[in-house]
Order: sequence, then structure tokens, then C-alpha cells
Amino acid sequence: MLQTALRFSHTLLKEVIQKGDTVVDATMGNGNDTAFLADLVGSTGLVYAFDIQEQALINTEKKLTELGLTDHVSLVHKGHETINRTIPEKTQLTAAIFNLGYLPKSDKQIITKPDTTKKALDALLPRLAPKGRIIIVVYYGHLGGEMELTLVQNYCQELPQETYSVLTYQFINQKNNPPILFCIEKK
Ligand SMILES: C[S@@+](CC[C@H](N)C(=O)[O-])C[C@H]1O[C@@H](n2cnc3c(N)ncnc32)[C@H](O)[C@@H]1O
Repeated sequence: MLQTALRFSHTLLKEVIQKGDTVVDATMGNGNDTAFLADLVGSTGLVYAFDIQEQALINTEKKLTELGLTDHVSLVHKGHETINRTIPEKTQLTAAIFNLGYLPKSDKQIITKPDTTKKALDALLPRLAPKGRIIIVVYYGHLGGEMELTLVQNYCQELPQETYSVLTYQFINQKNNPPILFCIEKK
């Protein structure tokens, strides 16, 4: 059976992340991706997880504690546009993931935005290790979502093919705007 965008995002991450790696969850939310990444990098690795909502940090901390994964995660209560100020300059990243949109069962007005998403991508690309991947899962059914989808689409399409391979993964016959996945891989 074909994988959902969410499941496929984890498959793509699993293929490249190893124990000891440093990775980024750019949109922590309820911490599902943070926990997944923390498990992959293990006790010798490090996950930087960003969110602007305090509730996201509370939910994620709770999840990580239950799973015994708190030790190697840095929960950052700041936007992902601060990546360059938060992560030491020389840190090389194996992977990063974005889930763009709003936090499910939360305030639908608090959404990711094109300008800050672009800043985060600009900061991540130079730090990406060879064969490293940035996954962007775009939910775009809400007000403002289409604009962000356009930004991500254009941004990805314009990346030079000598340096990056980029794919998109989407179900084209489903109702209710299923998320679209983009994967940028450094050559
Ligand atoms: C679709 S949710 C992420 C879901 C998450 N991956 C999970 O496992 O639950 C999007 C999240 O992005 C957060 N967000 C919005 N703007 C942000 C920014 N500039 N930097 C980091 N997170 C942001 C929202 O607060 C929200 O929690």
C-alpha cells in the first residue's frame, strides 16, 4: 500500500539518519517527529526542536519523558527562523523536517509563514551534510496555506540540480487537500 506523506517522511528520514547524528525538527508541535528523530539519533546524537507555542514544548516534553528520550533533545521555544542563532555555526546536520500548517486541536490562527519558512530553509541548506535530507510536509487547506505551498514549491524548484535533488510526493486524486511532501537531498 502506498505510504501517506507523513509515513513516507519517516521512511525518508530513517534511510539517512544514524546514531550520533545532529538533526532538526523545525516544527515540534506535539512532538511526534521530535520523538521519532530522538530515537533515530540515539543517546550520542542531538535533536534541535523548534516551536513558537509553549503548549508544543509542554506536550513534547511529556511525550519524550514517557518514552525516555529527553536527554538528547534540545527543545527551543523560538521560531525556526532563529536556526542560525541557536545552532552552533559549525554543526553539520544530517536531516531536518518541517510540518507546515497549524498545530492540530489548537489555535488555527497560529500557522507557519512563508517568510520564516524561507529563512529557516536558507539557514539549513549550507549546514546539510552530503546525502543529508530536508523534508517539508505542507498542509495547505487553511487560510494562508496556499501561499506557503507556493513558496515551498518555487523554492524547491529553483535549487540547482548540480547540488540538490528534489522530489515531491502527493496523492493527486484525494479530497480535502492531503499534505504534499517535498524532499531536498544534498548531493
Ligand atoms: C503542523 S504543526 C507540527 C506538527 C508536529 N510535527 C507534530 O508532530 O505534532 C505546525 C507547528 O509549527 C509551529 N510553528 C508556527 N510557526 C513556527 C515557527 N516560525 N517556527 C517554529 N514552529 C512554528 C506551530 O506552532 C505548530 O505547532
